[in-house]
Amino acid sequence: MDKKLHIKTYGCQMNVYDSARIADTLAPLGYAETDEVAAADMVVLNTCHIREKAAEKLYSELGRLRLLKQAKATPMHIVVAGCVAQAEGAEISARAPWVDVVVGPQTYHTLPALVARIDPQSRQAVINTDFPVEAKFDSLPAPNQNGKGPTAFLTIQEGCDKFCAFCVVPYTRGAEYSRPAAAIIHEAKQLLAGRAVEITLLGQNVNAWHGEALGGGGDWSFGRLLFALAELDGLKRLRYTTSHPLDMHPELYQAHADIPAVMPYVHLPLQSGSDRILAAMLRRHTAADYLRVIDRLRQARPDMAISGDFIVGFPDETEADFAATLKLVDRIKYAAAYSFKYSPRPGTPAAAQAQVPEAIKADRLASLQQLLDAQQQAFNASKLGQTMEVLVDRHGRHKGQKCGRSPWMQAVHFAGADVAIGDIIAIKATASHKYSLAGERLGGHADAA
Ligand code: 5AD
Ligand code: SF4
Repeated sequence: MDKKLHIKTYGCQMNVYDSARIADTLAPLGYAETDEVAAADMVVLNTCHIREKAAEKLYSELGRLRLLKQAKATPMHIVVAGCVAQAEGAEISARAPWVDVVVGPQTYHTLPALVARIDPQSRQAVINTDFPVEAKFDSLPAPNQNGKGPTAFLTIQEGCDKFCAFCVVPYTRGAEYSRPAAAIIHEAKQLLAGRAVEITLLGQNVNAWHGEALGGGGDWSFGRLLFALAELDGLKRLRYTTSHPLDMHPELYQAHADIPAVMPYVHLPLQSGSDRILAAMLRRHTAADYLRVIDRLRQARPDMAISGDFIVGFPDETEADFAATLKLVDRIKYAAAYSFKYSPRPGTPAAAQAQVPEAIKADRLASLQQLLDAQQQAFNASKLGQTMEVLVDRHGRHKGQKCGRSPWMQAVHFAGADVAIGDIIAIKATASHKYSLAGERLGGHADAA
């Protein structure tokens, strides 16, 4: 009998990748995905723990699921996966005894065995939050490409050994681990055999990836891996996220300079522009180090778009520290950015320090976002009149409209009723908005708008 699986994903792109692999893992048990939670025989919440309120959100979602489960005539299994599961496994089972399985990010390949152990009479969840990271990738089935679009995620590196003072990732995702090059290339070929033409390589510190060279003979750096992947048939675009400024190596700059498929967009978190705060955050780089990285990226690819992450209101951040962040942002000119108020995470060193008042955090976030928004708008406007290659990845809201991505990750809308999803076509940018561009195909606009 076919069973229905509903997965709700929170947080980062790695969770999006994990959710797809969770579906792959459960498919042999007869589970097919559904958008309808009420119809599901199994509901998986793939959770995120990076900032506050994750746990509260989870428990209110679990409250709603309890009612659905009670109302349903047939069994509904509830699975909590991801980083909140890792951090609070036993507590979840105690607070929400209607949860059947709790599974961490490194053990979801064991889901079939965990599901087999579900006892409907038990008020205890079946829990697996170990860290056998190597076993996971070796045990996952081939990624199912049915119904998938032209862009695919591929996790190549997981975990983090850097222990920035604000961050839970080293605790929830565990130690840094790089998958072997051979396994990555094998999975990339599987993705390309489906509809994928663009692959985004994922890792908490993706550019810290290093691994045994294909066929042995020493170690490859991340840049070398990009050169190898670029050779694969059918691969048109390569992206990667998230990078750390400390892990930039010469071969990576070279890959940007030499490989047209490596897109001119790098997500490089800065967090703060103040050396004092960077040191307190244990980031292990200065503002000047970061600027040098940006310069080298722009030397390799003059059209390089930079995006960043920022935290305002880290403990002890003064007005002068925050002014240093604004000043550095002003110099760098970001194409896009994500900024957050510092949120104390249990178990991390900075959580124990005196906190900056909430109102100050809110003010600083508003000023920073105003600057970053203006930069994004200016970046989009700088592409006006240019013709660019757009990878078409979805239908637009209007009839005949299609949407895609520019090389610099901008969303681009255009009239293209006869254009296929997955095509890469030349589009001239004719209007720029805060978060997107509008354009038209070269050679006129015969399609319905
Ligand atoms: N508070 C606020 N933002 C955080 N981030 C990570 N931990 C915290 C925290 N405790 C942000 C960082 C990171 C991004 C993924 O989330 O900017 O780069
Ligand atoms: Fe977290 Fe720092 Fe590791 Fe990034 S480098 S995952 S911010 S600890």
